[in-house]
Amino acid sequence: MSPSRRARLREVPLARTGAELGGVLDFVREEIAPFPTGNGHPAFFAWVNSPPAPAGLIAELLAGAVNATCGMGENALMDLERGTVRTLADLAGLPDGTGGVLTSGGSMANLLALATARTWFLTRRGSGDGPAYDRDHARLTLYYSAQAHMSVAKAAACIGLPAHRLRPIPTDAHDRLEPAALRATVTADLDAGLLPFCAVTTLGSTATGAVDPLEAVTDLCRSVGMWHHADGAWGGLGAAVPALAPLYQGIGGIDSLTVDPHKTLSVPVGCGALLVRDSEHLHTAFAHRASYLTAGEPDALPWLSHATVELTRPGTRALALWATLHHLGRDGVTTLIEHYLTLADQLRDKISTQPRLELLAGGPWPVACFRITDPVGDPDALHARVAHRVQAAGRAYLATVSVRGHTVLRACLCNYRTTTDDLDLLIREVLHAADADHQPPPVTNEQPTHRR
Ligand SMILES: Cc1ncc(COP(=O)(O)O)c(C=O)c1O
Repeated sequence: MSPSRRARLREVPLARTGAELGGVLDFVREEIAPFPTGNGHPAFFAWVNSPPAPAGLIAELLAGAVNATCGMGENALMDLERGTVRTLADLAGLPDGTGGVLTSGGSMANLLALATARTWFLTRRGSGDGPAYDRDHARLTLYYSAQAHMSVAKAAACIGLPAHRLRPIPTDAHDRLEPAALRATVTADLDAGLLPFCAVTTLGSTATGAVDPLEAVTDLCRSVGMWHHADGAWGGLGAAVPALAPLYQGIGGIDSLTVDPHKTLSVPVGCGALLVRDSEHLHTAFAHRASYLTAGEPDALPWLSHATVELTRPGTRALALWATLHHLGRDGVTTLIEHYLTLADQLRDKISTQPRLELLAGGPWPVACFRITDPVGDPDALHARVAHRVQAAGRAYLATVSVRGHTVLRACLCNYRTTTDDLDLLIREVLHAADADHQPPPVTNEQPTHRR
């Protein structure tokens, strides 16, 4: 997309008089649709951005027309949202009675989770307000794997925790949080008079797809009175997949879970969820009342605005998620995730058997982190260059990530249209991009100059 074309979009003036609606279609066809991120393409491997499945697309349009506000009052989409939350909890292996709310994505779900944990912790201590709040809030301390998504630290900042109260915990050789290191850090903080209030595990880490140990962290949380939140934005539904289920042993004991149907299930972007085992805690954090917002029935269910920061909320998430889930069915959810796992195994095999590439990390969630074994110059810079060249060539798309302090190539699988041929294409493109460094520089008559 040319810079001038991009600039034109940023500077679109508003005409004095309205135009025909048909013009919107022309505008989208010519100026928007040809220039997506690329995540609709089966050879897009860069981030966990899946393409939208048709069921969700259609449902989103329909729900937009219904235009229900899923925050206050009652309407069919609000009940449907309560139902889809229950279905997600069931797929994730959380106990009956788990509640929650749909969100715009994983970052928002993590934010709601930390705010809920904070309120739960301080309310239990009797320091939910007043001078005791000021005293205790300043000592709240948060723990998460050093591989956690940055949205966890961002959420902590949003609820007012300073950086020096955040404790990234080291991970093991398989990139899983070390429970012993967590325990030691929590113990040291307790001894120092701090208040450990929440530990966050990751189910499907963004960089390498690792799943943190759940039971050991829950045990620690119970013993010291912390909330256990699991960020399963990518891998929250692993318990539904037989090959992954053993890693999810104990998931029923966590306090809250983030899942992101717009990653794992190909629901159109804008659909995450926070699931909370005892949803009373969610309501304690978010059920602010106002005289102009009262339920008609005395025994009305809590409104969904009582479980989140949003009041006016779109019903599109609920219908798009419901349509996608019902189009897939329970088996379809498992098969979809298994498809990604199979492709990732194949990709990792292909990398391992290609002498010019080395597999460094990846799994059990479908991702491969790898390096080029015959680099010209600094390997970190080479990997950044290779990713950029692959992107610019436009046939495949992958990204880089930092693994054990080095910039390496990263490819993840989250497109239901990706096939083995796309994996072969990716490897060809990477090797081709690396070859550019082995070519002799073009011969010119110009004297070399230092580039500024
Ligand atoms: C583990 C994890 N948590 C949270 C997020 C943030 O989710 P979202 O982009 O939906 O806000 C991501 C995004 O990649 C993620 O991988």
